[in-house]
Amino acid sequence: MKKISAAALFTCILLASCTPKASTAGPAGPAVSTAEQIAQGKTIFENSCGRCHKLPDPASHTSVQWVGIMNSMAPKAKLTDEQHQWVYDYIVSVKK
Ligand code: HEC
Repeated sequence: MKKISAAALFTCILLASCTPKASTAGPAGPAVSTAEQIAQGKTIFENSCGRCHKLPDPASHTSVQWVGIMNSMAPKAKLTDEQHQWVYDYIVSVKK
């Protein structure tokens, strides 16, 4: 038993040191937002997304459709990449 776990540990160390780090994380850091960031997303959504039209209902589109919508609306609302991510994560989190 001891032998097996030692071998497994060794393999882990090898894998960890060989895996290129840059390819796993995006430019904005981890893909999953914290509850705090989602709360920020809600605030940004309520303040920025109802200016030109009615505040959209998150349930009115699928999460895939929201990717495209956010890609066209984030520049209109002048969101940073991070804010874009938080608003998207907020929308998807209320849909569930
Ligand atoms: C500067 C004005 C402006 C702001 C700010 C804005 N929108 Fe829009 N939005 C529009 C216009 C104009 C349309 C309709 C034309 C279009 O689809 O480009 C639209 C359409 C939409 C639609 C309908 C798209 C569809 O395919 O049915 C959704 C959903 C939407 N916006 C969500 C958002 C969200 C979310 C935000 C905040 C991040 C936002 N909008 C901020 C101007 C704006």
